[in-house]
Amino acid sequence: MYIISGWNNLIDILNVIKKTNFTIINHIIWSFKWGVYAKKKYVSSHYHILFLVKNKKNYIFKPQYINPKNKKGHPYEKDVWNWDNYHRGNDPDHIKGHPCQLPLMLLEKMIIISSNKENWIGDIFSGSGGTLLACKKLERNCISIEKIPDYLKIIKKKAKIINTENKIKNIEEESIEKNIKKPESKIENYWNKKFKR
Ligand SMILES: C[S@@+](CC[C@H](N)C(=O)[O-])C[C@H]1O[C@@H](n2cnc3c(N)ncnc32)[C@H](O)[C@@H]1O
Repeated sequence: MYIISGWNNLIDILNVIKKTNFTIINHIIWSFKWGVYAKKKYVSSHYHILFLVKNKKNYIFKPQYINPKNKKGHPYEKDVWNWDNYHRGNDPDHIKGHPCQLPLMLLEKMIIISSNKENWIGDIFSGSGGTLLACKKLERNCISIEKIPDYLKIIKKKAKIINTENKIKNIEEESIEKNIKKPESKIENYWNKKFKR
């Protein structure tokens, strides 16, 4: 299970996790370019991602950087994900109408590492349907829940854009599933190269 949050909710999330049978395997920092500019404090430009499992002796973890053909290459995943050039304005999957969308590529990364094709994935905070659409693209099954019915329109709109627009197709062609064949190509590098200024 992955829990993604800003730092200010982290204490409550950790307290709740303590009361469950889940084990925290990693605390990941995802950093990005945008932030709310502030003069009297540091600009916050990261999220926390907690990676938890029910059974610490048996869970799926498939680092991306191994070359699957010859099993060579960088076999490790770091817990700091630097997307230095990523911001919402240059994310081709980001659409108007939902205030806090996560990048599809970020969701894809976690799905690829922690699940197999045909597995079932749940997202109880669907929003613009990022997890749902990433699962469709990566051939996973998904149940997604959203309390605001109007967001269904956004999900349908996003699904249409992802399926039809050329720029999205280009990204699909270079998607992580392909990139894992090249040991040197990390998703962070993908964004950094793609949106280099
Ligand atoms: C941070 S957004 C999710 C963004 C999503 N990952 C995406 O990429 O679009 C959280 C969403 O959870 C929904 N939400 C909040 N509380 C909920 C609840 N109790 N049940 C279902 N959905 C809820 C909000 O309406 C919001 O759309």
